Amino acid sequence: MSDTHVIAVDKLHAAIRQVVAGFGSSASEIETVASNLIEANLTGHDSHGIGMLPRYAEAFAEGGLKPNAHVRTVLDAGAMLRLDGDAGFGQVIGREAMELGIARARQNGCCIVALGNAHHLGRIGAWAEMAAAADLVSLHFVNVISRGIVAPFGGADARFGTNPFTAGVPVPGRPPMILDFATSMVAQGKTRVAHNKGELLPEGNLIDNTGKPTRDPRYSVLEPFGAILTFGAHKGYGLALLCELLGGALASGMTQHSHDNDKKRILNGMLSVLIDPAALGDRVAFDRETQTFVEWVLASPPQEGVAHVRVAGDPERESRARRTAQGVPVDATTWQQILSAAAKLGVDPAAVARAAGTA
Ligand SMILES: NC(=O)c1ccc[n+]([C@@H]2O[C@H](COP(=O)([O-])OP(=O)(O)OC[C@H]3O[C@@H](n4cnc5c(N)ncnc54)[C@H](O)[C@@H]3O)[C@@H](O)[C@H]2O)c1
Repeated sequence: MSDTHVIAVDKLHAAIRQVVAGFGSSASEIETVASNLIEANLTGHDSHGIGMLPRYAEAFAEGGLKPNAHVRTVLDAGAMLRLDGDAGFGQVIGREAMELGIARARQNGCCIVALGNAHHLGRIGAWAEMAAAADLVSLHFVNVISRGIVAPFGGADARFGTNPFTAGVPVPGRPPMILDFATSMVAQGKTRVAHNKGELLPEGNLIDNTGKPTRDPRYSVLEPFGAILTFGAHKGYGLALLCELLGGALASGMTQHSHDNDKKRILNGMLSVLIDPAALGDRVAFDRETQTFVEWVLASPPQEGVAHVRVAGDPERESRARRTAQGVPVDATTWQQILSAAAKLGVDPAAVARAAGTA
């Protein structure tokens, strides 16, 4: 296993801002992208944090990621918005799309946001957190246009992406429930992290290039490629298809349907449904029941070896508190890949390492 750097959050910000500046981004884009990626690391989702920068640099070099793009409204039907992300940084496009959708949901009681052609939207939970902070319930169905990496249930090769499903529900008296997961057994970025750390994946996550079960993450990272399996057998597979049909066909008019998608850019389509619980008739009952039910569930006696029952969103908040205090662990391979990407972007890697305190 390789060594790990533990980098203080303020130093990581200083270092990552330098790397993102290499894309030629505006000052506000640098801040938004760096903060969003570091936030993913803070919440424990290293797969969607700063380790994505080398891939973004490759996508940028191919012309598939366009810095300084902004969300464009294609259709404005009041409570329905169709938006185009112009292949811009998903960290910026996702934020702008949610700001528009939140404003409309406040006016109309709900809003359906169909976002297409955004470059990688990162940790989708960030968008549900934005909606929950605005006191809205939200659902997000996301597809991925990139090299197919997930096999259909019963299939022996990869046909689509890790298609995340995400939902947020505000809960009175405690932080919101933020359910946010890839519909694959494991997020692709986590196979990359495992590969970089020299670790094996648990059983049942992956098949090799001949369709046989394997624990070696290389089959998700290096040719010849195998495929990740969907979670929850046919049920998770069904949800993955729904994400493709809603986030892809409906929201962005783009689905995955060929093997020749070897470009480095990652495009996401996202169908978001935002609901103002106050506008739906009985806010008092909603607040009472969400709070009472969550308290009831949390009071379940923990099984042996479990500290306490949690609701979705709690692990990310616990990780954020811990890593903010103790620093963000970044394995040496990932850190080296980030420094190499900086060099390709015309940024002095030694200066980045000095800013992070890893020089
Ligand atoms: N942009 C993209 O193309 C893309 C694609 C795939 C995944 N992603 C992102 O990858 C990230 C990681 O996805 P993942 O599938 O590895 O997530 P995961 O398997 O870690 O599951 C995370 C979810 O499970 C909840 N959870 C975890 N432990 C829990 C417990 N003990 N009790 C209650 N709830 C618990 C978390 O709060 C969270 O909602 C997500 O943020 C997702 O949005 C993005």
